[in-house]
Amino acid sequence: MSLTIDRERLLAEIETLASFSDGEAPAVTRIVFTPADLKARAWMTARCQEAGLTVREDAVGNTFARWNGSDSNPRVVGTGSHIDAIPNAGKYDGIVGVLGGLEAIRALQQSGFHPQHSIELLIFTSEEPTRFGIGCLGSRMLSGSLSADAARKLTDNEGATLDDVRHRAGFAGELADVNLPSGYYKAFVELHIEQGPLLERQHIPLGIVTKIAAPASLRVVIEGSGGHAGGVLMPDRHDALCAAAELILAIESAARTSGEIDTVATVGICDVFPSAVNSIPSRVRLSVDIRDTDLQRRDLVMRALQTACDSVSKKREVSIHSELLNADAPADCSPEVVEALSQSCRKHKLNFLPMVSRAYHDSLFISRVAPAAMLFIPCRNGYSHRPDEYASPEDIVRGTLVLSETLAALSA
Ligand code: GLV
Ligand code: MN
Ligand code: MN
Repeated sequence: MSLTIDRERLLAEIETLASFSDGEAPAVTRIVFTPADLKARAWMTARCQEAGLTVREDAVGNTFARWNGSDSNPRVVGTGSHIDAIPNAGKYDGIVGVLGGLEAIRALQQSGFHPQHSIELLIFTSEEPTRFGIGCLGSRMLSGSLSADAARKLTDNEGATLDDVRHRAGFAGELADVNLPSGYYKAFVELHIEQGPLLERQHIPLGIVTKIAAPASLRVVIEGSGGHAGGVLMPDRHDALCAAAELILAIESAARTSGEIDTVATVGICDVFPSAVNSIPSRVRLSVDIRDTDLQRRDLVMRALQTACDSVSKKREVSIHSELLNADAPADCSPEVVEALSQSCRKHKLNFLPMVSRAYHDSLFISRVAPAAMLFIPCRNGYSHRPDEYASPEDIVRGTLVLSETLAALSA
C-alpha cells in the first residue's frame, strides 16, 4: 500500500478553516455554537461528504463522518479532534487532528485500501472550556463521564443553558443518547500538535502519547466591599482584588514547589467588578486550572488552594467561595494503539518519543471507553493557545502519514 498525503490540499484546508473566526488574523477565535463555529462545521461536513463519508451529528453536536468497512463487525476505528478554538488562539490546535484525520482517510481511499472495520472521523464538540466552563464536553458525554442531567445544568457566561444554546444552533435530539454504546470503538487515535517544547528541543519528529495528565478546574468568587477609591481609608478596606492577588500567588507557589515539573497551575480569568478606575473592587471571579500526571500531587495543590482561601478570607475579612468544575483522573493510553503507531514510525524509520500529554484532549475521555492513544507533532517553541502557534508543513504531513498507516493497521 502506497500512501500519498496531499500536502497542498491539507495546508489550504487549514488556512480556510482558520478563516472561520471571530479573531483578527492570525488569531483564531471560534467558540462553540457561535456563527463562526457553525460555519466551520458546515464547511467540514461538506469536505467529509465530498470524500464520500457518511456524516451524522448527535444531540450535542459531535460530528461523525464514516467510511464504511467491508466487515459486518460493527466496531469502529476512530480518529479526530476538535475545531473549536479559545479566544486569541492559533490555527493548529485540534485542527491538525481533524483535517489530518480527513486527509489520512482520503489517502487510504486513494491507495485502494478497503477497511474491514469502518473508519470514523470525529469532530468533538467544545473540547475547549471557554463557553460552558468545562473542557471536552462532547467526549465527556460520549464516554458517559458527564450525564445528560449534569450537562443540562451547564450554562454559558450569559446564563444561557446548554440546551437552549444547542437548540438554537440546530442540534436537537436527546442528550441522553449521546453516550456511546459500549464497545463502539475498536480503537481511537488522535493526531495533535504537542503544545509543549520537548519534541522540537530534542529534534524528534513525532511523539507517541502514553499518558494524559489529570486536569482540574475551579471557579473562585471573592466578595469584599467596594467604595470610593479616594474616600475609603486603607485600614477600612476589604478589597476583593487584593485578596485575589494573594490567592493567585499562593496557587502559583503551590504548583512551583510540588517538586515535579509535571505540576502546573494557572489562573486564566480574573473578572473584576465593578472594574472602574476609582472604585474599590468589591467582587472578583477567578478561574483556576490545575494539572498533574500524578493525581495525589494535583490534589495537594487543590488542597493548598483551599487552605489559602481560608486564610486570605480570615485575614482580609472577605468571603471566598470556590466551586469545583471538574477534577478528572489521568489516562493511560492503550499499549495496542501505541504499538500500532510505533510500528508505523519504525516502518518509515522515524524517530519518536514516548511522552506524556500535559494538555488534556478528547482522548482523555475516549480512553475510558476505547483503546486510545495520541500522536504528537512538534510545534514551534512549544507555543499553543496563542496566534503564533505554528506547525511546519513537513511535520503535519509526517504526522498525517503515520496516522493514515495506523488507521489502516487498526481497521484491517
Ligand atoms: C486543552 O485545550 C487544554 O487546555 O489542555
Ligand atoms: Mn486547546
Ligand atoms: Mn486541542
